[in-house]
Amino acid sequence: MYSLGVLTLVQSLAAHDAALKLIIVLPSVIILALLSCWANARQEQDDDGPPFLPLSIWETVWPFFTARHDFLARGFELTRQPFFRFKLLQNTVVVVSQEYARADFFACKGLDIHEGFKVLSGAIPMLPGVTSDLQARRISLIHRRLAAAQSSDHLQRLIPYILQDICRVTRSWGSAGSVIDPFAHIPALLFQTTVRSLSSHELADDPVTVERLRKLYDALDDSTTPFSVLLPWLPSLSMLAKLRSSKKVYDIIDGAIRARVASGISRDDTLQMLVDHGDEKMVIVGFIMGLLVAGARSTGTTASWIVTYLAGLPEWRLRAQDEAHALLAVHATTTATGTQNLAEQLATVPLEAFEQCTPVMDAVIREALRVAQPHTAMRRNVGPETYVAGVRIPSGAYVVYPFSDVHLNPQLYPDPWRFDPGRSKSDAQVDYIGWGGGKTVCLGQRLAKLQMKVMLTILLLSFDLSLVDQAQGPLRNVPQPNWNDHLTCKPPPGSCYVRLGYHKY
Ligand code: HEM
Repeated sequence: MYSLGVLTLVQSLAAHDAALKLIIVLPSVIILALLSCWANARQEQDDDGPPFLPLSIWETVWPFFTARHDFLARGFELTRQPFFRFKLLQNTVVVVSQEYARADFFACKGLDIHEGFKVLSGAIPMLPGVTSDLQARRISLIHRRLAAAQSSDHLQRLIPYILQDICRVTRSWGSAGSVIDPFAHIPALLFQTTVRSLSSHELADDPVTVERLRKLYDALDDSTTPFSVLLPWLPSLSMLAKLRSSKKVYDIIDGAIRARVASGISRDDTLQMLVDHGDEKMVIVGFIMGLLVAGARSTGTTASWIVTYLAGLPEWRLRAQDEAHALLAVHATTTATGTQNLAEQLATVPLEAFEQCTPVMDAVIREALRVAQPHTAMRRNVGPETYVAGVRIPSGAYVVYPFSDVHLNPQLYPDPWRFDPGRSKSDAQVDYIGWGGGKTVCLGQRLAKLQMKVMLTILLLSFDLSLVDQAQGPLRNVPQPNWNDHLTCKPPPGSCYVRLGYHKY
């Protein structure tokens, strides 16, 4: 669809000139208006299946991308049904909910996650054949490589590097007593450890390039608009910005691969594993470009909420802190002291201890994923017509399932906004999908959990965390996660900060 060669042309076109903006935006608006009339006409003709939302296309397209949680809740309210349909331009989207639907949705063979995300999310770098429009064969190869990157041996050897990264970055936050914005500092920290885990040591050792990559991915998020997702062939300004950022990310990763191959030096990292398998360059670039953003966004968001909750809730902070102390006391094999040496001591803790001797951290992560992961699972029916809880899903239609249906459901989780890692299990068939469900579960779960546990262990052993307000006074209540911010779930800016108090481990 977009060859990389056109990007230079596109870059020169995208100068921020008012006339050019008009030339590009005006046709977009006209086309959108025409498509809107066409979609509304089609909606009236088709009366089979769940009710259509009684809203115009203008009241559906924009809210679906900008305030998805409220939009879907409004849909259920307006139709008073557990299922409803709406049009995203030419695409029919069926929204499903409730227990039977969630079991069917995650088990149904014809429902494809990649096709669903391509049209309904669009929040990945756009390089056809590299990160989008991937053939099934290429996707399954990338998944196999991801499994190899999470083998026990590989992860055990990765731990010391992640520890060093975390110590370096946390030192840059200032001495004990400093205050950080958990929704800025923690995602940046997890971005660093994700670059370390999924790409090369050369990239991860270069803070300037890591920061540049992070900003480029942020720019990609910003340029993901209804225009760029639904009309990817239209040269809207957001589409051009998205192409430009994608190309810059591509160049950085391509440069790292070339440098490694040209050096002839073998390093112990994921890039080397990919090169040693003899994979095509497009697979290696696709692996790093796609998984870097998928992994860093989710781990960054989850970790920022975990730190915020623990800073605000002394009971769980102390329990997690005790667990971190026990990891060090029972499983570390050196006794050097000093913050500088904390990374060296923790590097002797076996992977198995991080994975199996941390029930409190497991419970905290699980609860954070329940209350602060505003995901809507998206699928396209790539098979023949099928049914989800008795609702017909035509071939080619899109189906979405909001995680709020289960995770914020007061029948399954009384007082659902309360963060309580000690909650008891419900009797429902499917009551938790924090790492996905059925045939689609997170394939980066092992790495994600390890990064978050290592980060938590260092923070809890190094600092006494507490929640403060803008004036640095104590803050009693943890803010509520914003489910309408479907990528980062951040509360309004300035809602809370975390003080890194002095703490002797
Ligand atoms: C806290 C961090 C993470 C969370 C909460 C998370 C959560 C999820 C969830 C809920 C799904 C299923 C989505 C759906 O059904 O629509 C998923 C899928 C996936 N995740 Fe993660 N994830 C995390 C980190 C990662 C990381 C670090 C990687 C890679 C390094 C990764 C790779 C994937 C992949 C490849 C899939 C798609 C699986 C498939 O196509 O079958 N995730 N993740």
